[in-house]
Order: sequence, then C-alpha cells, then structure tokens
Amino acid sequence: MAQITAGITTSHVPAIGAALDQGKDGTDYWAPVFAGYDWTKEWIAREKPDVVVLVYNDHASAFSLEIIPTFAIGCADEFPIADEGFGPRPVPTVLGHPGLACHLAQSLILDEFDMTVINKMDVDHGLTVPLSLMFAQPLEWPVKVVPIAVNVVQYPPPTGERCYKLGQALRRAIESYDEGLNVQVWGTGGMSHQLQGPRAGLINQKFDNAFLDDMTANPDALRAITHLEYLREAGSEGIELVMWLVMRGALGDAVQELHRFYHVPASNTAVGHLVLKPTPKEQ
Ligand code: DHB
Ligand code: FE
Repeated sequence: MAQITAGITTSHVPAIGAALDQGKDGTDYWAPVFAGYDWTKEWIAREKPDVVVLVYNDHASAFSLEIIPTFAIGCADEFPIADEGFGPRPVPTVLGHPGLACHLAQSLILDEFDMTVINKMDVDHGLTVPLSLMFAQPLEWPVKVVPIAVNVVQYPPPTGERCYKLGQALRRAIESYDEGLNVQVWGTGGMSHQLQGPRAGLINQKFDNAFLDDMTANPDALRAITHLEYLREAGSEGIELVMWLVMRGALGDAVQELHRFYHVPASNTAVGHLVLKPTPKEQ
C-alpha cells in the first residue's frame, strides 16, 4: 500500500522563484533564504519520494475569478507551467500521477469531501517554488506530483479545521492505494504576510513562531484559529497557512520535527519551513 513517509511545509514566495531563475540565489539578500533549505535538499535526495501530494493555492493563474473551486485535485498526466505575466518559469513541466490522483479523488469524494476534479491545469508559483526549493533546478522533477488546490484568494476560504479534516481523509485515501508508493504531503503558502491595503508589509514573527511550535506539538490549537485571527495576526494573505493544516492532518497525531527554518523578510513575507515525520507507533 502507499504510505505517507513525511510532510513538508514551506512558504511559496514568487520572488524566490525569480531569484533562482535569474541566478541571484547567491546574493547577500537571497543566500540566507536558500541556505534554510540545504538540509532538506540533502535529506530528500536520500528519501527519494515517488509522489508528492502538493497542497497549494492557485493565484488566479489557472482559475481566474470566474470559477474558484474550494478544493480541487489535479488528475492530469502533466501540468504545464503557468505564465504569471513574465512568461512561464523556466522549470520542467510537472508530471502528475493520474492513477493515484483518481483514487484520491474517489476516496475523498466518497469520504464526503466534494473535490473538484481538474483534468487540465497550469500550475503557478504556489506549486513550482516549493519544488525548486527542495530540488533546485533539475532537467526533470524527480517526483510525480498530485496537486491539491485550496481556495484562499476569494472569501470565503475553507476553515483551518476543515483543512485539517481534509488532511485526515487524505491519509485514509493514500493508505488505501494499492501500490507501494513513498508519498510525501506538502503544504505551502504563508507565513504572515499582507500584500495590500494600509497594513501591506505586515509580518508577525511572534505569531509565526508560535504557529511553527504548534505544528509539531499542538496542532489542535491551530485547528481552532478563525479567519478573523488569521487576518488580524498574520495579515490578509496569512490565510494561506490553512494549507499547512491539510498536511498536518494527513500525518496523524504525533510527529517528529526533523528540520525547521524561519527567515524574515523575503520579498513581502516571512519564510517558514518545516520537515515533519509521522511517529510510526501513533499511526
Ligand atoms: C508574495 C506572493 C505570494 O503568493 C505569497 O504567497 C507570498 C508573497 C509576494 O508577492 O511577495
Ligand atoms: Fe501565495
């Protein structure tokens, strides 16, 4: 059977992708950001996951504001790189895993999570920047990806609690897939940031670090955070953190923190990154 072997969270700041694509990752500004991922790059090269179930949000690249699914799952063979205004990022096309994705769609929908099934979709920085952070700039991505897109751009987004429960259902779905795949679940976005309005540029290090602590030790506290609290404490785009809770719900009650990184600022946001491993006995 397929197994979840680890979970990763990371911010997905678009300027990180631009820095890498333009060869600026060694500059004084960017080098400390990329250094926070060195440990993970070495670790993941040894772990060799087969598939990443990558929970992210589309930033009006594939969906526009005409159609916005709350939860969507990508079942295609491949996902082209979106043009976000400056041409598509020069990174490999993302290959899907239609067999696993269709099984997950069936399992999640029969488990009462009404996923939108997507058979054609371009993927933007929300998905490609995390891949670049973990795998640098390969000719082909070394993993297949099942994208799960969560609406956090148009009110109302799902609650953190709903996202956590989706993660729990995702675990049931993955563990009932009849092939011995090494699967990681990633949750992207965050941490505190606000891109608009009078509070643009907001970063809340105290909130972010407490969130990182609770991801490992006290996820129940995170499940209770309301939309209003995210808005007040983490800024209008801090709501992206609900996607981390999909990953956390998928890992089970007890986890071990393998790696943590926090850095301020990168572009307009705080960068947070965790690598978590499910504790086998609690599974
Ligand atoms: C920015 C945009 C994002 O989508 C995000 O998650 C973080 C930062 C930005 O424009 O800086
Ligand atoms: Fe974003």
